[in-house]
Amino acid sequence: MSINNAVLRVEGVSISFGGLRALNDVYLEIGTREVVGLIGPNGAGKTTLFNALCGLVTPDAGVFYLAGQKSDFPRTDNLVDLGIARTLQGVGLFGDLTVLENVMIGAQHLAQTGLISAAFARNTKDENRIREKARVALERVYAGALADRRADTLAYPDTKRVAIARALVSEPKILMLDEPAGGLGTQDIEWMNSLIRNLSAQMSVLLVEHHMDVVMNVCSKLYVLNFGEVIASGSAETVRRDPAVIAAYLGTGT
Ligand SMILES: Nc1ncnc2c1ncn2[C@@H]1O[C@H](COP(=O)(O)OP(=O)(O)O)[C@@H](O)[C@H]1O
Ligand SMILES: [Mg+2]
Repeated sequence: MSINNAVLRVEGVSISFGGLRALNDVYLEIGTREVVGLIGPNGAGKTTLFNALCGLVTPDAGVFYLAGQKSDFPRTDNLVDLGIARTLQGVGLFGDLTVLENVMIGAQHLAQTGLISAAFARNTKDENRIREKARVALERVYAGALADRRADTLAYPDTKRVAIARALVSEPKILMLDEPAGGLGTQDIEWMNSLIRNLSAQMSVLLVEHHMDVVMNVCSKLYVLNFGEVIASGSAETVRRDPAVIAAYLGTGT
């Protein structure tokens, strides 16, 4: 994937927490409709990089390009305008709202600002439009039948799908998922992988995952982080055979 086709690219990203260097001179590039995996053992810095890409952490250093244009790193309040949507490691649904209402919150860009009450627009026309978008998003994750359930009655794998629907409703160009398969069994992981493959027909996807085997079949390109640095990148096959990657994973037993 050439640099010119990259929908998102970062270079030289460094982030410290106090004395701890969580990321050091990290680069990453996501191509158009590409599924990119960010993998590495626990504590490698995956979530920190993910958070920098979605505005939750401000890097100490680094350059951010969107569609080839150098720009500031995103802030949570302009993420949707930049065409980026994300789910977080904790699913973060509002248990006492219905599934549909939870997804509607994604459409109003309010999930990150916490203005829940405003999610229910006074203007009926707006509300109907958003409701329709939310229904479409739920259908795309095959969860249309769950629309009227209270979120706190869902089985865990279903909460994962609903979280993705909530991200999809803003119609992102880049979808970022932090450990979407986390806590899922083998069958649900299969299902999640095929969903991600389907979504990549319309958007680029960045997938964070610490189990390498989970993303092997889904990603066209992997970046491997260890102790805050990219130790390998490339196709799943290349990365899997890389001695530095094998050593990093052997060291942790994951
Ligand atoms: N807010 C924070 N404050 C201090 N240290 C943090 C913070 N977030 C992450 N870290 C540390 O940064 C390193 C990378 O963490 P993280 O990005 O969560 O790794 P991963 O997602 O790969 O498991 C870890 O050593 C972690 O303890
Ligand atoms: Mg993490």
